[in-house]
Amino acid sequence: MAVAVVTGGASGFGLALGERCAARGMDVVLADLDRDRATAEAARVAQVHAVEVIGMHTDVADQSSVAAAAMAVEERFGVADLVASNVGVQLFGSIERFTDDEWQWLLDVNVIGSARVARAFLPLLRRAPRGRLAFTTSSSILDPASRLGAYQASKFAVWGLAETLRLELADDGIGVSVIFPSGMMSRHLETSEAAQPSHLRRPIADEGDFEAMVASNPGMAAGIATPEDAARGVIEAVMADEPYVITHGDLVASVRERLSTLTEAAERAATAASQAEQGAAARSQLGPER
Ligand SMILES: NC(=O)c1ccc[n+]([C@@H]2O[C@H](COP(=O)([O-])OP(=O)(O)OC[C@H]3O[C@@H](n4cnc5c(N)ncnc54)[C@H](O)[C@@H]3O)[C@@H](O)[C@H]2O)c1
Repeated sequence: MAVAVVTGGASGFGLALGERCAARGMDVVLADLDRDRATAEAARVAQVHAVEVIGMHTDVADQSSVAAAAMAVEERFGVADLVASNVGVQLFGSIERFTDDEWQWLLDVNVIGSARVARAFLPLLRRAPRGRLAFTTSSSILDPASRLGAYQASKFAVWGLAETLRLELADDGIGVSVIFPSGMMSRHLETSEAAQPSHLRRPIADEGDFEAMVASNPGMAAGIATPEDAARGVIEAVMADEPYVITHGDLVASVRERLSTLTEAAERAATAASQAEQGAAARSQLGPER
């Protein structure tokens, strides 16, 4: 029986991913900061899908907690076929108002937390016939909005982490996918607030943040999906080793525009390089300068 591990698996998108894995007959580990919810949801999903589901307390911001989760999975199953690093906390604000403490919290949970999960579970993924590692980012890095700067920076970093891992794990046959969900009706703001360390404790969003976000990117408020709808087809895409999985929303125009602007920049650099090369070749044919 294949085994899936989902961090942030007690709620929202992570829970929906876990449930999709269970529906495919996989045993599932829901690893989450919220132990009670993870345990309750595990019991429910196990009953519905007749597979083994374990709810486990895990804090991705704590190296020893992540290592303990990997050890528990090793003891129970000996392998992980799919690891979905899905935890991400949110904090709104303009870039100039973010304190160092706020940056450190967000980057520690979202970025280093993803790296901790990958590091701890890679030995178990290597034991699977075709291990799969997936990272939940956000469509807002394909089509950014204001007031989400720290969050978007963290999700860009997770994307960078995934791109590097894909290269580093190619010889191991472990596929790495980046998942880009658009807006979902979840408990994200509530759980992000609950997850804040005691020295932060500020509202996740201030008055005016949502308005400024939507004013900068009106598409943000459109096409909000349920986590269950967003998760549909994602596990199949990850198992098929698709590098990028966009769950919902219409991002075609923004992705195309960014790609074409980037392509133009790359073409300008390539043209300048070839002109410099031709110039050097022409100078060398003229012989030594006097
Ligand atoms: N909700 C959205 O609109 C949206 C859009 C794009 C991307 N996302 C991303 O989807 C992912 C899941 O978010 P969601 O919307 O399902 O939210 P959610 O609040 O429903 O679920 C997040 C889960 O993560 C857990 N969690 C928080 N901090 C943790 C920690 N340090 N260690 C372990 N677990 C922790 C929470 O307890 C919660 O159960 C996140 O990475 C989020 O950034 C969400």
